[in-house]
Amino acid sequence: MINDLVLINDWHPVANMQQLHDKKLMSIRLLGEDVLVWSSQGRIYAWQDLCIHRGTKLSLGEIVDGDKVQCPYHGWTYNTEGRCVHIPAHPEQTPPDKAVVKTYQAQERYGFIWVTLGKPEHDIAPFPEWDNDAYRKILCGPYTMDACGTRIVENFLDIGHFPFVHEGILGVKERPEIEDYESEITPEGVLSKGVKVYQPDPYGTGLGDTVAYTYRAIRPLTAYLLKESDGPSFSILLTITPHETVGSTAWMWMAMNYGHDLPENELIAWQDEIFEQDRPIVESQRPELLPLDLQAELHLNSDRTAISYRKWLNEMGLTFGTA
Ligand code: FES
Ligand SMILES: [Fe+2]
Repeated sequence: MINDLVLINDWHPVANMQQLHDKKLMSIRLLGEDVLVWSSQGRIYAWQDLCIHRGTKLSLGEIVDGDKVQCPYHGWTYNTEGRCVHIPAHPEQTPPDKAVVKTYQAQERYGFIWVTLGKPEHDIAPFPEWDNDAYRKILCGPYTMDACGTRIVENFLDIGHFPFVHEGILGVKERPEIEDYESEITPEGVLSKGVKVYQPDPYGTGLGDTVAYTYRAIRPLTAYLLKESDGPSFSILLTITPHETVGSTAWMWMAMNYGHDLPENELIAWQDEIFEQDRPIVESQRPELLPLDLQAELHLNSDRTAISYRKWLNEMGLTFGTA
């Protein structure tokens, strides 16, 4: 297991409900640990993916009697508490007390399965649009990335790259200036408001305009942006599965209270294109881990959100993904 207490004691999205429905027994790599995720009668379970008999992956087995997991090797069978209740080679024998797999907490939220390997001190990040039917929600991803989760989040919080990496979509090279703005560390995380950039066609009218974003880093690996506007509202919740220190899956929920007739596949394709523009940039960054010492790398006013993010991670004692 990756030895970072901040992340061990945090909730992480590991799959969406559809994936679990399709796979029944899922093996997920989380913080360097193999985790079995399965469900029975509407409850979700997350266990160490390891049979205590001979260390076989339980995810290769099957669900039996609707509410038990059977190991594929010698058929040891575990109940929903992770306790072995049946050893086929010795059907008369009560399984030893020690025959229990390691269990973790799991829950569903925002259509994802969230797992913690420890004792969470914080709830899953809020996503205010989720329960508001005025907002259409579109899931983008999963995007697997050969990158550290903190580098992916920092890229999401970075507006200065829009004119270069997303030229013609989120910015233009002729108007790369970033006006100064405020960024603060609040009890709820990092908050930056009025982060402005010029975009060639922000409202689908064919006319360019300067738009402003609100950015939040809510948990170390969950961030949020809101396109500031009095009318149509567009926001994104980004959340990361940290498989390894370098090796992640990114998920995005887009929420919008307009464009209800726009085909979902077009909206996803738009996000896919943007994400694929970011990918080679983020995967190329060295060090792969995010330097939390502000003396490392160079910071300008337009990097205020990233500076806050690094400071905030440092203050909470994150060691994962830092160099
Ligand atoms: S290894 Fe699982 S039953 Fe033997
Ligand atoms: Fe980007």
